[in-house]
Amino acid sequence: MNEQTLSMRLERVAAHVPAGARLADIGSDHAYLPVALMRRGVIKAAVAGEVAVTPFYTAERSVRENDFAQQISVRLADGLAAIEAGDAITAISICGMGGERIRDILDSGKARLTGQERLILQPNGGEQPLRQWLMDNGYRILCEEVLRENRFAYEIIVAERSGPVTYSAEELYFGPLQMQARSPAFLAKWQRLLRLKQQTLADFAQARQTVPEAKVQQLTQQTQWIMALLA
Ligand SMILES: C[S@@+](CC[C@H](N)C(=O)[O-])C[C@H]1O[C@@H](n2cnc3c(N)ncnc32)[C@H](O)[C@@H]1O
Repeated sequence: MNEQTLSMRLERVAAHVPAGARLADIGSDHAYLPVALMRRGVIKAAVAGEVAVTPFYTAERSVRENDFAQQISVRLADGLAAIEAGDAITAISICGMGGERIRDILDSGKARLTGQERLILQPNGGEQPLRQWLMDNGYRILCEEVLRENRFAYEIIVAERSGPVTYSAEELYFGPLQMQARSPAFLAKWQRLLRLKQQTLADFAQARQTVPEAKVQQLTQQTQWIMALLA
């Protein structure tokens, strides 16, 4: 993967960035996503935000080598602190980290959100708490996908602020649109997870030490939801 050939995961993320967007890519690492989108003429401008020094320098080098220093600002910053009002950002991508971390970045940076930005999120696990944050903050999920690459299942969640929206507990767990679309990748992901969760429940039953009842109940509930989904 590089700024010309994205991974399938980042390629799918790129497909959700609107043409002409001013993108903030938070946790940009090598800045492959904003550089690739700029090379393709998809976006007008970008901010590549990084909290860690080494990827920040990598992003700077990638932007410089592609001659985009005028169009892409690389900033060493925690989360949405990379965004300044004058950037007039219209889309924010936060990819390749846990859903809880993405949620925390959005929550602690709320003051930097105008509500006009499209959020393109690619959590590695922790999708449920991320969807909960989106619902609690009036974001409607416009598009969701599951894709499998290098033996991992990745999810992409695209959302925009819409006003109050209500999702059921199962929709927050599985994804409201994915529950309807039932793509082969989505069903395969939950078939795998069902086997894992059933094995964990069997291990709990054999465990010498007592497993907290709340944990067993939560896992049992999730297993029932998955079985109902796959039935
Ligand atoms: C696994 S990389 C993903 C890079 C790229 N977004 C992708 O999907 O390929 C996660 C990056 O997020 C950065 N990161 C984690 N927490 C962050 C935060 N609060 N603010 C900015 N960057 C963060 C890490 O330093 C790391 O470079």
